[in-house]
Amino acid sequence: MSEQFGFGIIGAGIISEYHAKAINAHPDGKVVAIADIAKSNADKFAQEHSCEAYTDWREMIKRDDIEAVCVCSPSGLHAEHTVYAAQAGKHILVEKSMAINLRDAVNMIRAARDNSVKLGVIFQKRTEEAPNKIKKAIEEGVFGRMVFGDASIKYWRNQAYYDSADWRGTWAQEGGGSTMTQGIHGIDLLLYMMGDVEKIYAKIDTVAHERIEVEDVALALLTFKNGAYGCLETATATNPGQGNVFHINGTHGTAILVEDTITSWAVADSRETLAKEAIAGAEGKAGTAASSSTVFPVEGHIIQVVNFISAVRTGEELICSGEEGLRSLQLIMALYESARRGKEVYVDELLEGMEI
Ligand SMILES: NC(=O)c1ccc[n+]([C@@H]2O[C@H](COP(=O)([O-])OP(=O)(O)OC[C@H]3O[C@@H](n4cnc5c(N)ncnc54)[C@H](O)[C@@H]3O)[C@@H](O)[C@H]2O)c1
Repeated sequence: MSEQFGFGIIGAGIISEYHAKAINAHPDGKVVAIADIAKSNADKFAQEHSCEAYTDWREMIKRDDIEAVCVCSPSGLHAEHTVYAAQAGKHILVEKSMAINLRDAVNMIRAARDNSVKLGVIFQKRTEEAPNKIKKAIEEGVFGRMVFGDASIKYWRNQAYYDSADWRGTWAQEGGGSTMTQGIHGIDLLLYMMGDVEKIYAKIDTVAHERIEVEDVALALLTFKNGAYGCLETATATNPGQGNVFHINGTHGTAILVEDTITSWAVADSRETLAKEAIAGAEGKAGTAASSSTVFPVEGHIIQVVNFISAVRTGEELICSGEEGLRSLQLIMALYESARRGKEVYVDELLEGMEI
């Protein structure tokens, strides 16, 4: 007989619905309780998902039937919620952005390790087939020496989106704009495929929104640790949104990835056969969050919840651990630092003095 795996969710906003759907899709998954400081949000969610409502997330976490906590609160609160849950012995599945600064993210990773609980980070695009094919091809040398890894992550969010919640558009609670909140998905994927970045030179601006502190445009030059170069652009100012577009070039081949579809795959010489096999099956099926903050596929969350429960029960490797989640955050913090200094920044410099 299967055994129930109980979840408590903190934050009953847009993304909590995706967690509820993903948990309910698992034969053992059960949403036991929801916590939200806005009572009406907690009550509505509890009614729709037949669970208990709390306004105090600490009270919710005390429940014995909660084995894991989904952290779906505003990004600036993730560290507080995660560290507390870890200290209470609960496993944690935290939404991106895992934190809004590196110190908090490191504390989250440490808290999970010190309390022997799992910390998973939601980056649902990692579950798609196409980027995994490109990652494998890069690792196997199919594209030769890597030359470019470019990511264009141009979204549209209107002013009403930023006005819809106090935390949006603020450095203190969102931690950034088009790069931290929207671009982070594509940045995680770029690093997942290409490997980490050594140096970054960046510029940010706010061009299309009036009442936000954070950037709605960012651009950066990247030097990867493998010697390749890259151009990175993020925006919430381009209407309509164009989504995630990657150009991956090596001395032997090129892949172009548009959202979850490989639209072009060309490999020099005899490796082309392998390339045709590799492209097969990578048909796009995902919708896009490029112009909408509320409409995107739930499949990635479902796969990550299945993986998370298996990680807790059997030790299966997490699709995205805390350490993996830190990678994109580190690059983003370096991007902001470079824009602030007006100079190139070594990405690893930012973690100096912080023991993970
Ligand atoms: N993976 C994805 O594609 C994806 C998509 C959307 C949002 N997100 C992430 O999910 C998180 C939440 O985003 P959202 O769009 O659902 O936000 P939202 O504003 O719709 O919801 C946040 C909820 O948290 C509640 N809240 C605020 N402070 C709280 C506290 N101290 N305790 C408990 N609840 C509190 C708010 O009342 C609100 O109901 C963010 O980190 C965001 O980056 C991820």
